[in-house]
Amino acid sequence: MSEKALDRVDYVEFYVGSARQWAYYHKFGLGFRVLAYSGPETGVRDHVSYLMEQGRVKVMLTNSLVPDSQISSHVKLHGDGVKDIAIRVNNLNDAISDMDERKIVKHDTPRKVKTENGNIYAATASTYGETVHSLIDYGEYEGEFLPGFVPVEDVGIQDSGIQRFDHIVGNVEEKKMEDWVDYYVDGMGFEPLISFDDKDISTEFSALKSKVVHYNNRKIVFPINEPARGKKKSQIQEYLDYYHMPGVQHIALHTDDILGTVRKMRKMGIEFQSTPDSYYRELAERVGKIDEDMNELKENNILVDRDDDGYLLQIFTKPTGDRPTFFYEIIQRKGATSFGKGNFKALFESIERDQARRGNL
Ligand code: FE2
Repeated sequence: MSEKALDRVDYVEFYVGSARQWAYYHKFGLGFRVLAYSGPETGVRDHVSYLMEQGRVKVMLTNSLVPDSQISSHVKLHGDGVKDIAIRVNNLNDAISDMDERKIVKHDTPRKVKTENGNIYAATASTYGETVHSLIDYGEYEGEFLPGFVPVEDVGIQDSGIQRFDHIVGNVEEKKMEDWVDYYVDGMGFEPLISFDDKDISTEFSALKSKVVHYNNRKIVFPINEPARGKKKSQIQEYLDYYHMPGVQHIALHTDDILGTVRKMRKMGIEFQSTPDSYYRELAERVGKIDEDMNELKENNILVDRDDDGYLLQIFTKPTGDRPTFFYEIIQRKGATSFGKGNFKALFESIERDQARRGNL
């Protein structure tokens, strides 16, 4: 097969306890607009979905309207979280026969969805926990959205500069990371991404292990984390304790202007992880010359990391729901192809320096 079977992430679907509230957060907090809606008004009786967009990022927010459904049981067990990382495929038959030859990925029977705008071909493949990948072939389809959705006129929303998915991260159990890397590599044709982060000097500080797989020259990028024993309880273990299963930890959204994006989001009430002032004292020395003003980065708690190819700027939101599970990352790449692992070490060290100053180390 010459053409790559998979294309790119089409959308990410969350199962949540109140899709309307999640839509409000994405709209007024993150700058997404509602593209389309599906629910009783459009002939769907048992759930509602809002399809939202910013740049090329699409998220779908789905809420059950009945007590017994796979959506409501998902929310009951996991809280609000990602159910589906849907992938656009160039040709579903090719994608499925490629996976079948590899004999690793489980998927359901491919289905043909007839619509007045042409056919959609889709199948669902499983991944870590209860997370799935819808594989969708829009080759013969001329509609704008998935069937069952009607367009929504959502005007007056200022976007915040988000352009595309950068990477989507899964948390899996201790000693399971390698298996899931193999799942994507051997089962779906991904490749391991050798990056700066692999020169792993910081496990002691980060309390997690991470490996990255990518597809078609980083068109799809999935880091996989597992907990590790570090100086503190692993944040990955905390996720697993609250989500009760492996699942999606964060989605990194790329912007070309992280300062502008983060300022807008802060103004709209989005809360970000804070960074100790001491982190910025050593920043210039650690990352060298960068285009941005250090004081502005410090005011906004934006982190910087450098690798062999360049540098990146990043910041993480507080969890979007009540459980300490899913959150967003905002990232701007200036050449760097890694994921900011140097920040774990820098953050731990600066926290420890503050602790030492208080005489508590
Ligand atoms: Fe990330």
